[in-house]
Amino acid sequence: MISTTHEPREYARSVGLDPARLPRHIAIIMDGNGRWAQRQGKERAEGHERGAHSVDVITEECCRLGIGQLTLYCLSSENWKRPKPEIDFLMALLKQYLLAEREKIQEQNIRFTVIGRRSGLPDEVLAEIDENVRLTQHNTGLTLCLAINYGSRAEIVDAVQTLAGRVSRGELQPEEIDEAAISGALYTGGMPDPDLLVRTAGEMRVSNYLLWQISYAELWVTPKFWPEFDASLLHDALRDFARRERRFGGLTTDTTT
Ligand code: IPE
Ligand code: IPE
Ligand code: MG
Repeated sequence: MISTTHEPREYARSVGLDPARLPRHIAIIMDGNGRWAQRQGKERAEGHERGAHSVDVITEECCRLGIGQLTLYCLSSENWKRPKPEIDFLMALLKQYLLAEREKIQEQNIRFTVIGRRSGLPDEVLAEIDENVRLTQHNTGLTLCLAINYGSRAEIVDAVQTLAGRVSRGELQPEEIDEAAISGALYTGGMPDPDLLVRTAGEMRVSNYLLWQISYAELWVTPKFWPEFDASLLHDALRDFARRERRFGGLTTDTTT
């Protein structure tokens, strides 16, 4: 059970963050599990296990801070290229996480959701996902969205097919396809776009993650590996985000006169 001694705004101030300048939606590319393990002379699998612990820590911290949504890149549509033993381990870990965290997710009033293609995922993993989604659908706290078997290009392909189907059935006119229609047809339909995109393990790329949705997200990359990521590093990212000036193509306020 997380601490209830602070309400989120008070807690944010207590760790040096301005609650008025927190992102509504944080997306994270959780990278570097394998490299973390290799550095310690351990198997890659151990890196993934430690990575699952970081998920727990960061989810809890986002609840404490009153963040609206956390979207975590867990498995990309390209990760199937990895050796079968690693994929099998990731599936087993995912199932274990979904079961082990169920009670805690409920206690924290988290609404659990997923994005990505279902095809290719084992039935037993899909069943645990569905159960967590069902049990938490009316919760009103943090939306925890896991990107599993997710690829942004695949998402766009699926959205285009959905819209084209509606056009061919006469439910939608081609000229009615605007940005809102496309946003709504993506797996993330109805969710706010991420304000902050964090990537661990130093790579300066987006690896097919939320390409449409991160159009105006602020990017923050740390050389630390995901298993090392903790509340204090999240605070660093949030402090940096609070200092950013988001112009969305406009001008700074002091140059508009
Ligand atoms: C991220 O860590 C987890 C997944 C992609 C499943 P990696 O497994 O990519 O770790 P590195 O990048 O090889 O260190
Ligand atoms: C991105 O990490 C995918 C996830 C974190 C799930 P990768 O390790 O797959 O990305 P690349 O291959 O370095 O671009
Ligand atoms: Mg990687």
